[in-house]
Parts: sequence; C-alpha cells; structure tokens
Amino acid sequence: PPPVYRGQPIVLVGLMGAGKSTVGRRLAGRLGLPFVDADIEIERAAGMTIADIFSRFGEPYFRDGERRVIQRLIDGRPKVIATGGGAFVNDATRALILSEALAIWLDAPVEVLAERVRRRDTRPLLRGKDPLAVLRELAAVRNPLYALAPIRVPSANAPHDTTVRAIMEVLK
Ligand code: S3P
Repeated sequence: PPPVYRGQPIVLVGLMGAGKSTVGRRLAGRLGLPFVDADIEIERAAGMTIADIFSRFGEPYFRDGERRVIQRLIDGRPKVIATGGGAFVNDATRALILSEALAIWLDAPVEVLAERVRRRDTRPLLRGKDPLAVLRELAAVRNPLYALAPIRVPSANAPHDTTVRAIMEVLK
C-alpha cells in the first residue's frame, strides 16, 4: 500500500509531457500548499534558460545544478514540487527525493507524451528530433527508475484534473 501522506514535500516525477507542472500546480491548489517548479527555479538560479544551460555547459553540469536546486527546495516544509523529467534519473537526486520527500510518478504511454510535447518544443533533448523516437528511448531507460517512486498514478488521455483527483485519493 502507498505510504500515508505525512506532510513531507510531494515531488512529481515522470517523462516530459507527463503533466508534472500542470498537475503539480493544481494539486498544490487543492491541498492548499505552495507549488514550485524546479525547472523554473533552475533557470532563475542560473539566470538563463535550460536550453542555454544545456548548450553552453552540457547536460552533466545541468544535472548537478538541478540536484542542488532540488536539495534547496526540499526543506522539510510541505509543498508540491514539479521536477524536470531527468531529475529522478540522476542517482544522487533520486536518493535525495526518495529519502526526504514523497515521490509520485505520473505515468503515461509514450504516444500520449509525444502528442503533448509537440505543442511546445523548447526542450533541448527533443530539439530537431522525432519526439516519439526520443521518448521511446528515454522510457526504456527511465521507467524502471521512475517505478522506484512509492506512488504511481496514470496520466494518460484523461484531463489533468482527473490525475489530480487520483492523487488526492491516494493521499487521503
Ligand atoms: C528533461 C526534461 C525537462 C528539463 C530538461 C531535461 C529531461 O523538463 O528538465 O529539458 O531530461 O527529461 P520537463 O520534464 O518538465 O520537460
């Protein structure tokens, strides 16, 4: 059975397009908790976009900054944190989230994710590539790691509010 919610930070994980930011914001609203988007906090801390961090400094540098930002956001206070799709894949970041927060995997088929990300293509991992092909490769590597989250909620074709309700059900 999923762990009972005890006020630790809730961290949403999952692939690009899973709805982490949208679902996270609405979930926080329903729970009366602050919402914070780790990707936006990283951009603020770096003073540049994620695409620029990737192209100027590379992915390993981004992952290290991402871990530090998430470490700062997980401060013991109840809140909802949306993370970028690769955060939970990084060993150090995942260990941090698993020990100090409640991770929730928003899981959707790659076909659904590919449709969603087509509407916004600022993501460096997708630039100039076929999103479905990239997402298939990422899912093969990442899904076994996302599966380490104590809670998994499907986020397929349903509207995001349905996903929010499903999470509320698990938490109560
Ligand atoms: C990434 C996902 C992005 C962002 C960066 C890398 C990933 O966040 O952190 O482009 O590795 O999957 P979203 O999942 O919010 O798109």
